[in-house]
Amino acid sequence: MTEQLKIGIVLGSNRQGRVSPQVGEWAKKLADQRNDAQYEIVDIADYDLPFFGTTAGTEPDLAKWSEKINELDAYIFVVAEYNHGMTGVLKNAIDSAPTTAWNNKAASIMSYGSTGGARAAEHLRGVLGELMVADTRVHPTFSLFLDFENFTTFNPGELHLENMNMMFDQLNSWGTALKSVRG
Ligand SMILES: Cc1cc2nc3c(=O)[nH]c(=O)nc-3n(C[C@H](O)[C@H](O)[C@H](O)COP(=O)(O)O)c2cc1C
Repeated sequence: MTEQLKIGIVLGSNRQGRVSPQVGEWAKKLADQRNDAQYEIVDIADYDLPFFGTTAGTEPDLAKWSEKINELDAYIFVVAEYNHGMTGVLKNAIDSAPTTAWNNKAASIMSYGSTGGARAAEHLRGVLGELMVADTRVHPTFSLFLDFENFTTFNPGELHLENMNMMFDQLNSWGTALKSVRG
């Protein structure tokens, strides 16, 4: 049997009161029922990352972050929309790992916002292209109005389940294919 992929569910926000952990944990619960990969939550808030390039870059958490990104075969980004883009903390975290840790991997995006976080997700897709991370077509989008209660409690509609499973299928397929490119 081939080894299962290691897939990180990356929480893309770190503000106090953020909802990304709810979205990420819901995805992890669905993912774990599939038994097709090793899924883990990767919380940027667990890493004390400096603002990229402002220090000598010797912080232990910077090395830990890069190792984590390097060891994963694929990523699911949980993307909040801030001012029509991804959060600053997610972009900083992406910039903070070496390009080579990202190259020839696969990713999926789950986004949320007033328009499902679509603008932030498209912003991230451009960044992933530069890093040679292949992102899946299926991209579940969650509405702050319909999939959250009071904009704070995540309660996604049933209709997202089919999309989520298509996303996992595509991610596993591309994640496996790209592993062979990395040798
Ligand atoms: C600085 C800031 C900017 C925001 N800009 C947008 C926006 O452009 N579009 C949108 O749909 N929601 C926007 N929102 C609302 C967020 O989508 C919402 O607060 C969401 O819960 C943020 O994710 P988080 O709770 O994980 O931080 C913004 C929120 C913040 C804090």
